[in-house]
Amino acid sequence: MAQARGEEKARYVRTMFGRIATRYDLMNTLMTAGLDARWRAATVAAACPPAGGRALDVGTGTARLAWALATRMPHGRVVGIDFAEPMLRRGQADLARWAGGRRVELVLADALALPFRDGSFDCVTTAFTVRNVADVVAAFREMRRVLRPGGRVACLEITRPRSALGPLFQWYFRCLVPLAGRLVVGDAEAYTYLPESAYAFLDAPRLAGAMRQAGLVNVRYRFLGLGTVALHVGARPA
Ligand SMILES: C[S@@+](CC[C@H](N)C(=O)[O-])C[C@H]1O[C@@H](n2cnc3c(N)ncnc32)[C@H](O)[C@@H]1O
Repeated sequence: MAQARGEEKARYVRTMFGRIATRYDLMNTLMTAGLDARWRAATVAAACPPAGGRALDVGTGTARLAWALATRMPHGRVVGIDFAEPMLRRGQADLARWAGGRRVELVLADALALPFRDGSFDCVTTAFTVRNVADVVAAFREMRRVLRPGGRVACLEITRPRSALGPLFQWYFRCLVPLAGRLVVGDAEAYTYLPESAYAFLDAPRLAGAMRQAGLVNVRYRFLGLGTVALHVGARPA
C-alpha cells in the first residue's frame, strides 16, 4: 500500500491514522524511546517562529508539534491541519488541558489544498507527514504558497540510515515495530505500512530536491536519531 498513488493512497492513509489515533502518541514514545519530542523541538527551532507570529503545522495529527510551536511562540497563534478527524479530536482533547492551547486552532484540511491565503504564515512545520502524501512536490508547493516571503518550512521525516546501522534499523523497523504495533495498538497493518512507506520514500538528498522543485530556496538538511530521521529546512524566496 506504500506504493499506492493519488486518491487511493489518501483514502488509505486517512483511514489508517483514523484507526490508530488513540494509541498513536504512546506508540511513538515507545518506538523512539521518547526522542520524538526532542526531534519536534529541533523542528520548531529550525522553523524560527517569531514570538508573536503565525505558524502552520501540516499533518499535525494529535497536535504535538503544534503544541511545541505554541510553547515557543508565547504571543503567537498556531494552526494545525490534518485530514484524519480522529487524530485532530485526540489533539484537541489534549490541548484543552493547557491554557496555551487556546492559541492553537486545529482545522480539518488536505495538505494538497490548504484553505489559507497566500503568504499568511510566518513559518510552516511538518513532521512524519510528507511520505504519506500523494504528491510531495505539490505539498511543498502549498506550504510555500501560504508562507510569507523569507519564511521557513521545516520538515521532519524518517529516512534510511546510510551508516553501518542500516541493517539493524531495518530489522528493528520491519520486524519489531509491526510486532509492537500489534501488541500495543492492535493494528499490525498500520505498523507494517510505516516501515514500507519509509523505505519507499525519497532519501534525504531527493527530498531536498523535491523542496527545491516546489520553489523553496536555501534548502539544507541534517540527520537526527543516529541517522534515522532527517530534518530539512527551506525558505520562500524573500
Ligand atoms: C505520522 S502522522 C504525524 C503526525 C504529527 N505530525 C506528529 O509529529 O506526530 C502523519 C499525519 O499526516 C496526516 N496526513 C497525511 N496526508 C495528509 C494530507 N494529504 N492532508 C492532511 N493530512 C495528512 C495523517 O492523517 C496523519 O495524522
